[in-house]
Amino acid sequence: MRIIFTDHYESMSEEAAKIIAAQLWLKPDSVLGLATGSTPVMLYQKLIHLYETVGLDFSQATSFNLDEYVGLSPNDEQSYHRFMHENLFDHVNIRNERIFFPDGLADDAAAEGMRYEKAIEAAGGIDLQLLGIGRNAHIGFNEPADCFTRTTHKVALKGNTIAANARFFASEKDVPREAMSMGIGTIFQARHILLLASGAEKAQAVKDTWEGTITPAVPASILQLHPHVTLIVDREAGSLLTAKGKELA
Ligand code: GLP
Repeated sequence: MRIIFTDHYESMSEEAAKIIAAQLWLKPDSVLGLATGSTPVMLYQKLIHLYETVGLDFSQATSFNLDEYVGLSPNDEQSYHRFMHENLFDHVNIRNERIFFPDGLADDAAAEGMRYEKAIEAAGGIDLQLLGIGRNAHIGFNEPADCFTRTTHKVALKGNTIAANARFFASEKDVPREAMSMGIGTIFQARHILLLASGAEKAQAVKDTWEGTITPAVPASILQLHPHVTLIVDREAGSLLTAKGKELA
């Protein structure tokens, strides 16, 4: 893992935008794995700016989102589908037929998981996977567990994840209790993983991920084994890293 230290949310977003823009310039038909949540919002704004000002081209790109809530239709205001359209897709020239999400309305979750895995494979695999991180170090919706999940699957969300995501809903009881998520194995197959963390509430997850024991109790810790991970932290998210952790960078 390579780590990039930045001062604040904006500079973290700027560094991430440069990496994604470079990926698209070098390989216009890149397959991107994209993420939702607050963390990538400014990064998406910066990509839109690059599209508008210097013609960053998404026309040949394909995207696979990490996850979607179970029970929400793509048009639901809180669906991740809608989030991505509002925050990125509707503002750049990505083609609709190259945008993929796990289907939160699928009756058969196992079949849906397989369909999603096959679609990723048929597209040639993910070149660059963007990730945020949960306060409990979940990635996608892969919650702390007894073993690392492999493929796209249905997950039951933990209470603290439901509470953390309640800010996007009218109230906590409206947050879906389940989601479809790429597995840790799906994420791990990406050729390059870009993990972003901003703010003090992510500091412990960053420390555990970067310098802790590799364990499914800290889902993101498996990334220590991946050959090409770039972690970008702002000052607060990197604040608990020890001198040893900083040396590893
Ligand atoms: C959700 C998403 C994750 C995201 C996490 C952190 O659980 N499924 O992909 O990384 O929230 O969100 P935020 O960036 O809002 O802190």
